[in-house]
Amino acid sequence: MFSRKLIDESGIRADGRRLDELRPIKLEIGVLSNADGSAYIEQGKSKVIAAVYGPRELHPKHLSLPDRAMLRCRYHMAPFSVEQRKSPAPSRREMELSKVVREALEPSIFLEYYPRTSIDVFIEVLEADGGTRCAGITAASLALADAGIPTRDLVSACAAGKVEGLFVLDLTDAEDKASEADVPLAIMPNLGSITLLQMDGMLTLDEFQSIVELAVKGCKQIHSIQREALKAKYVAVKEVVEE
Ligand code: CDP
Repeated sequence: MFSRKLIDESGIRADGRRLDELRPIKLEIGVLSNADGSAYIEQGKSKVIAAVYGPRELHPKHLSLPDRAMLRCRYHMAPFSVEQRKSPAPSRREMELSKVVREALEPSIFLEYYPRTSIDVFIEVLEADGGTRCAGITAASLALADAGIPTRDLVSACAAGKVEGLFVLDLTDAEDKASEADVPLAIMPNLGSITLLQMDGMLTLDEFQSIVELAVKGCKQIHSIQREALKAKYVAVKEVVEE
């Protein structure tokens, strides 16, 4: 059996959460005046900002696509975002995450509306305490909406995993490092489709299904927080305009 360090006998985690509880989430939209769209997310101690430019003319032009916009994403961790200063140069991990973030957002965007253009998404991790790829996707989806880019649905992302033999939602860095497995997931809840599904570690098929269900539950909660954040910004703006 496990000698449990991160979860006590009554199923309470080191930070006081229940097994199926998300960390506190704070979302803010339109935080950068120089980008076309932006959003900031705090999920527990993880802090991530997303900025969107576009649709805009793509350079070099020969790369442009005749029938749709090209989505380009960069996931990057600031040197001060982790305990041990990280080199600002893009690591292999950041290159991989830039790709999976792009693939997670791509199905949500009507790229065919903007042929020959590019839509550029920049995700900057300011402070990392686990779950930054998911927090980045959640924020980037809001930044796309803030840029006025038409989407099929918001993309909501969250990880779940197995820690000390138990299934937990929204892992912290300490939980991630101690986990037997973690499964980051992104979904478009209104369309019922999954746009990101990764797994690190080993699970039985039954365990995998339970963990995916838990992550879907977390994503749906995040989806309603995203909607609230959009309403908080745009309903308030609409009211000012109508006055
Ligand atoms: O952040 P996320 O869970 O999406 O990605 P990960 O590769 O599973 O990394 C988990 C955590 O490890 C990050 O959130 C950071 O807290 C930490 N990390 C770190 O301390 N130094 C790095 N160079 C990369 C990750």
